[in-house]
Amino acid sequence: MGSQLIHTRLCDLLGIEYPIIEGGMVWISEAILAAAVSNAGGLGQIAAGSFFNADDLRKEIRKAKDLTGKPFSINVPLLNPGADWMIETALEEKVKVITTSAGSPARFARKIKEGGARVLHVVPSARLARKADAAGVDAIVAEGIEAGGHDSPDEITSLVLIPQVADAVKVPVVAAGGIADARGLAAALALGASGVQMGTRFVVTRECQVHPNFKRAIIEAQDNGTVLTARSLGHPVRVLKNSLAEKILELERKGVSEAELFEFIGPGRTRKAALEGDLVEGSMMSGQIAGMIRDEKSVKEVIQEMVRGAEEIIKKLNQGN
Ligand SMILES: Cc1cc2nc3c(=O)[nH]c(=O)nc-3n(C[C@H](O)[C@H](O)[C@H](O)COP(=O)(O)O)c2cc1C
Repeated sequence: MGSQLIHTRLCDLLGIEYPIIEGGMVWISEAILAAAVSNAGGLGQIAAGSFFNADDLRKEIRKAKDLTGKPFSINVPLLNPGADWMIETALEEKVKVITTSAGSPARFARKIKEGGARVLHVVPSARLARKADAAGVDAIVAEGIEAGGHDSPDEITSLVLIPQVADAVKVPVVAAGGIADARGLAAALALGASGVQMGTRFVVTRECQVHPNFKRAIIEAQDNGTVLTARSLGHPVRVLKNSLAEKILELERKGVSEAELFEFIGPGRTRKAALEGDLVEGSMMSGQIAGMIRDEKSVKEVIQEMVRGAEEIIKKLNQGN
């Protein structure tokens, strides 16, 4: 049963029950988690950035199709040299939604729509939201600096970003960054968004296949538990504080070259933490909201609690608090 109070045009656009999207997370967003989110009424997502060839991505998509009959999405980081084959594979497999990030959607939006999928694009500013809108995307994900993973040097917070993006474009806006419970969902809707995208909260779910050490590190993190690394390179990355993050910050303070830094910030570091559970040499991308995540739940519990809680908040607001 859908929810009348939080049913938005995003639900109609994507064919989902609740306006809740699992963010694409490299090495983390795979078929089992994606299917669990879609089966619970949200939109699950597979991160194409974890794959090095079309066959492996195709297998993962087929695995998700075996686990859910509901729509799910493929996240394609556009700066990835494999962006073309990632999109082609998703379209060949008749995936219903493609979310693009980290790059310009101008070259891809039309192709995706003509291929029969909806296209969402992730932006960190109202300026880039307008550009994505002009490129013809179906919806825009506005991601604030609170978010885990790659962030923008603009460093705009979600509270400031979401209403400005909502004012700047006509297509539905999805709020991302710093959302993990019913209050966050209700707040995002109040700010003009038509839904939310969450990464960090879905990492700490029973269906998430990430190494248990990674989940435990998020559960133990406080509100100041993350830090932005790689700011000196112009593309900050939000990670949990650990000795690797300290080392990167120290090297940045010393002003070492990009090549020297790369040894410590390459994608292999995220894989090390996510798959091997190495919390010393590995990098744990995580949002600031880690400080509020205190226990592992099922995906269904996370989504149901958010939906029911947001409905209560909206009812109270309608009654004048
Ligand atoms: C571990 C991790 C990996 C991520 N990887 C990607 C990615 O591959 N592509 C992408 O567009 N966003 C990526 N993100 C961002 C998420 O999709 C999502 O927008 C973000 O986590 C939302 O903020 P939150 O962490 O506060 O929920 C990642 C986030 C995390 C925590």
